[in-house]
Amino acid sequence: MMTLDAARKKVEELSLLLNHHNYQYYVLDRPEISDYAFDLLLEELIQLEKQFPELLRSDSPSQRVGGEITKNFQSVAHRYPMMSLSNSYNEGEILDFHNRVFKSLNDHPEYVCELKYDGVAISLLYEQGILVQAITRGDGTRGDDVTMNVKTIRSIPLRLHGNYPESFEIRGEIFLPHASFDKMNIDRESEGLALFANPRNAASGTLKMQDSAEVARRKLDCSLYFLLGENLPFKTHYESLQAARSWGLKISNNMAVCKSAEEIFDFINDWKTGRYELPFDIDGIVIKVNRFDQQEKLGFTAKSPRWAIAYKYKAEEVQTQLISIDYQVGRTGTVTPVANLKPVLLAGTTVKRATLHNADIILQLGLHEQDTVIIEKGGEIIPKITSVIEANRLSTSKPVVFISHCPECGTALVRAEGESAWYCPNSSDCPPQIKGKLEHFISRKAMNIESLGEGKVEMLFDNQLIHHLADLYDLKYDQLLGLEKTFMNEDGKVRKVSFREKTTENILASIEASKDVPFPRVLFALGIRFVGETVAKKLAVAFPSIDLLMNADKEDLIAIDEIGERIAESVIAFFAENKNIELIDRLRIHGLNLASQSKFMLLSQKLEGKSIVVSGVFNNYTRDEMKELIEKHGGKNIGSISAKTSFVLSGQNMGPAKMEKALSLGVPIISEEEFIQMIMS
Ligand code: IVH
Repeated sequence: MMTLDAARKKVEELSLLLNHHNYQYYVLDRPEISDYAFDLLLEELIQLEKQFPELLRSDSPSQRVGGEITKNFQSVAHRYPMMSLSNSYNEGEILDFHNRVFKSLNDHPEYVCELKYDGVAISLLYEQGILVQAITRGDGTRGDDVTMNVKTIRSIPLRLHGNYPESFEIRGEIFLPHASFDKMNIDRESEGLALFANPRNAASGTLKMQDSAEVARRKLDCSLYFLLGENLPFKTHYESLQAARSWGLKISNNMAVCKSAEEIFDFINDWKTGRYELPFDIDGIVIKVNRFDQQEKLGFTAKSPRWAIAYKYKAEEVQTQLISIDYQVGRTGTVTPVANLKPVLLAGTTVKRATLHNADIILQLGLHEQDTVIIEKGGEIIPKITSVIEANRLSTSKPVVFISHCPECGTALVRAEGESAWYCPNSSDCPPQIKGKLEHFISRKAMNIESLGEGKVEMLFDNQLIHHLADLYDLKYDQLLGLEKTFMNEDGKVRKVSFREKTTENILASIEASKDVPFPRVLFALGIRFVGETVAKKLAVAFPSIDLLMNADKEDLIAIDEIGERIAESVIAFFAENKNIELIDRLRIHGLNLASQSKFMLLSQKLEGKSIVVSGVFNNYTRDEMKELIEKHGGKNIGSISAKTSFVLSGQNMGPAKMEKALSLGVPIISEEEFIQMIMS
């Protein structure tokens, strides 16, 4: 084993290296090593920090993967109030602003024009070059401390380089790039979860999540635009941002120093169309007086600085006509209405379809057949209908009525209380649902039966070789060999797929290999409504076998961190159906992993049947090590305290809310020493 000194050196070396590559990749967009090489370095650091917990620093690059859970965000006061900007919508209002500034200063001001990021405002506090706190805007005087979540954002440095001031605050915007937003909504759709309406909502929802590991997965980004502090050595805003960039902070390159209203208008006009090429949303431009002494002279109103103004772009919208509505049935049976429109040009692309989301939206719009509609391009790929022009409506046109029966199988649609989506309950016989379930089951993150992708699973379904998920494991060589299908591609070319020897062997081999897929992924593959990848992992940790999960009641499920009523009810409903129990039995016979292969040998059964909540910081173990120890002795880790909790294992700094809850429910609180005695005795 390495000595502590050698380990300290190595940890420092790895941290510097990782910080450097992180900066190259996320701030400069100029990676020097592969993702794989980066992950190896990171893993080496994580392992060393596990072995030598005393070397774990709060600014370690390992903090970026998250893991810390924040139940309640602390409300903290801002050092300087977080103000907003006054808005303008046309050149006249910008001219008025310019004239006001000119009059007050009695001088020709210089301006900096910047992009107005459409995200969530954040204030970052750096002390001695280390990120120590990140606070949301809140009400402007107090905000929430979201440091743990912000640390997972790779473009925000945890440690600065260069000649930075001892203490300063820098403000900016946290946002979700289009690519991350699209991926997140695709995942949510496949999990039957409600979609986020736009990247801004998604960013703000993500920032407030309790599980920082999930925040890390969602890939937020951040751009900084306002430096504050005492006695900073800068004369202009522009200069201060260039300096901040030299310390490793992410500052946009898309800004310009403008000397006249005309130059401001040029900047506004360039980005009016240029913004559609950006990989994230902006909703306007911000214009700021550059010199700090002039900013000071201009001062503030009650709400906003007199030295800056926002220019907001109008969302691009256009009129067209509704032709018809398609109703698409998804894997979980959710029926989504999609409008077919008379093709029209909007923000550079021809639009033929618009999403209508659900029945409530149709009602809210008061949509009638053949209506003239206004469509708008927001952050999403598919535009949305924002209003209808009633004056253009034909007197004969009837209101659009949401379908009452499934367009695919004819079953009457149902809608759960409090939800806006209608769905087809015929999950076992409705073709798109079966096909969707099969496609989900074989997908990479589930059973990873890749050789059945690209429509092959559909061929098997169409040939009536598979219907239920378990049928995949009964497939025989002779049934597959020689199957053929001819497709017409979009370009009109004919393509033929046929199962020859090699294809058939590959398919059967990858079905066989899927029997080794670990339990959490099998659980995800089952396609239980609201049980996505992350939820499946959480369930599998709390209930390491399908039998334990099947026997869990609602209260057991809700006791798990981040598992709410909706998920709990869906899990219970799934196992309440006979056909699902039959499915599990068949999968069991075929030898799929329906229990977690324990990562470690059980050391004892001393904690058997005990549900334990771990809280606070420990002297001899990290929190994760404590949790592992609990499992090694047969206990179960639980996220929140309830009457069913056996005891709370508390280190230092146990939260007061947890303490109060444990006391009020009479749940014993046990110290690190007592716990060690308990398992060692
Ligand atoms: S400066 C004292 N610059 O827009 C004013 N704000 O509507 C400090 N925003 O609160 C803000 N991009 O959340 C500034 N380049 C930019 C910005 C920007 C986006 C946000 C920010 C602000 C809001 C005002």
